[in-house]
This record gives sequence, C-alpha cells and structure tokens, in this order.
Amino acid sequence: MHRPRRLRQTSNIREMIAETNLHVANLIYPVFICDGENIDQPIRTLPGQSRMSIDVLSQKITAWKKLGLKNYALFPKIEDSKKDSRGSEALNDNGLLPKAIKYLKQNHPEISLFTDVALDPYSSDGHDGIVKNGEILNDETVQILSQMAVKQAQWGADWVCPSDMMDGRVAAIREALDENGFTKTSILSYTAKYASSFYGPFREALDSAPKAGDKKTYQMDFRNRTEAVRELSLDISEGADMVMVKPGLPYLDVVADLKAHSSVPVAVYNVSGEYAMLHFAAQAGALDLEKTMMECMYSFRRAGADVILTYFAPEVAKVLNSIESKIL
Ligand code: PBG
Repeated sequence: MHRPRRLRQTSNIREMIAETNLHVANLIYPVFICDGENIDQPIRTLPGQSRMSIDVLSQKITAWKKLGLKNYALFPKIEDSKKDSRGSEALNDNGLLPKAIKYLKQNHPEISLFTDVALDPYSSDGHDGIVKNGEILNDETVQILSQMAVKQAQWGADWVCPSDMMDGRVAAIREALDENGFTKTSILSYTAKYASSFYGPFREALDSAPKAGDKKTYQMDFRNRTEAVRELSLDISEGADMVMVKPGLPYLDVVADLKAHSSVPVAVYNVSGEYAMLHFAAQAGALDLEKTMMECMYSFRRAGADVILTYFAPEVAKVLNSIESKIL
C-alpha cells in the first residue's frame, strides 16, 4: 500500500515538494582583514580563505556582489604590538576596523556589514573579556563591549554582533546604542555560543587563542541543550534582533530548539573547523566538496536556520546561481 518512493521518482516531483530552500540572500560571508595594501595572505588551515587588506577585499566584494552576496562579517587581524589587557585597540577611531567599514560602505553602499563585539582579537590575554587573577570579569567587560558597539555603529556597521557570552551584554549594548542615537543599528547576538574546539582555524587566522586557560567559564558547555533556551529568552527580552547558534553542524538540535522558541530570526555559524573538515577530507579524496557543502547548507535550513554564516558563501552562491540559470 505505502510506497514513499513514488514521491521521489522524478526530479520534477522532488523539486515540487522539497521541504527546504536556500537563497544567496540567506548567507553572510565572514572575512578576515589586515593592515597594509595589496595583501592577500592565505590561511593555512582555511583553504581558499585569506587575510586581506582593505583594497583587496573591496575588489573581491565587487565580484562577490555579482553572485548576489551582500552581507559580510568583518574580522580584523590585530598586530601583537597593538594588543593589551583591556583591548584598547577595539575603541581606536583610527584602527583597522573603522577604516575597513568606512571604505567598504563608501565603495559598496548596498552591502550590510556585521561586526563582532568581543575583546579576543584585541586582547593580549586572548580572552573575550577582561582577565583579573585568572577570572574573566563580567560587568567590567560589558561596559567596554557597550562602548565598542557604539563605536562600531558610529563607524557605520549595520549590525553589531556580541560574540563574548558575558551576561547582560545585549541589554547594555541596546541601551548604549539608543542613548547615542543609534536606534537603527541592529543586534545579532551569539546567543548559544559553545566552548568549542571547532574554532581552531579561526584562532590561527587572527592569532587570538587564549594565552592561558580556556573559555569554559563564559561560553556554553557542549553537553547542554536546555540552557540554550534560557540564553534565548534572555537575549530576546534584552532586545536582540536576531539570535545565533555556534558552531553549526554538531549543534543542529540547538538550532531546531531555538527556531521553535524564537520570535526573531535564527542564524547559525558554520565555523572554521567545520569548513576545514570538509576541505581536508575532500583533499584526501574522501568526499566531494561541492556536494557535501550543499548538503550541509540545506541541513542548516532544514534544522530551522534563517541565516547562515559560512566561509563557503561564494562557492554556495555560485552553485545556487547555476541552479537558477538552469531553471530559467
Ligand atoms: C570571537 C569569535 C570566535 C569566532 C567568531 N568570533 C572565536 C572564539 O570565540 O574563540 C569563531 C568563528 C570560527 O571558528 O569560524 N569571540
């Protein structure tokens, strides 16, 4: 009587009833920027990704825009000599990030820029907050994060993205933004960010690994699921415009939970280690890169993600563009 295969027998029927879709507009591309000119320095553990000076990134964005990619998350590589225990460089109006935001916005007014609010790229301790006697201080850090968010809004960021996991930071940032007239700047909160070992290549890219200890006293324990729903209700009550789960692939249950409980859109971060896994497995001949990449992207959407941050963004966009041109 029951033959589910009837609904799989032709591509027409499969296309007609596919439960999930994916558009280039769902993607945010995280990119690494560095000082200098004409620099395009490959990152060993992130094949195909590089640290780019602002001029190089801007040229590449011209090409990526043609694929429909309009959302970029900027991650600055800060020189060691500019790092200190308070992450002061994060507030420097003449630093790398403000230069990048202004230049890119001027040259590409139609793109949206997402900037990370956390101290780790700027901190000599490599932690997301201020460290005192081995402890990551919460409230002192939140004050600095609020100043950072206001600065980033002033420089022209469309979205500020607290990725630090301090308690109360979303409310503090919202209040600081509003007090300073930035009522239109949105907050994408890293709501359920886990203390994960999948961030390895990212930390190599920015040379931002913690100098001592780990991030387990502020990022979430990977054994916990219900706790993510608690973080979600806090972030929504504090005014987050969008919430995020990070990493992605090992946390699809958390993506599904957040989608079920959230009144705002849910993003997922397909992090550096996940990207590296597929690349190195493909290089070893173990799997097909393009096919596994697309399977992962659809799995995020199937789990409930509205938005995907991924280093695969240009490659995914190319595949989606070629599918659309075949249909038309
Ligand atoms: C900074 C931050 C990290 C990532 C994004 N923002 C690293 C960390 O928390 O240690 C990781 C992204 C990736 O691995 O691709 N707080």
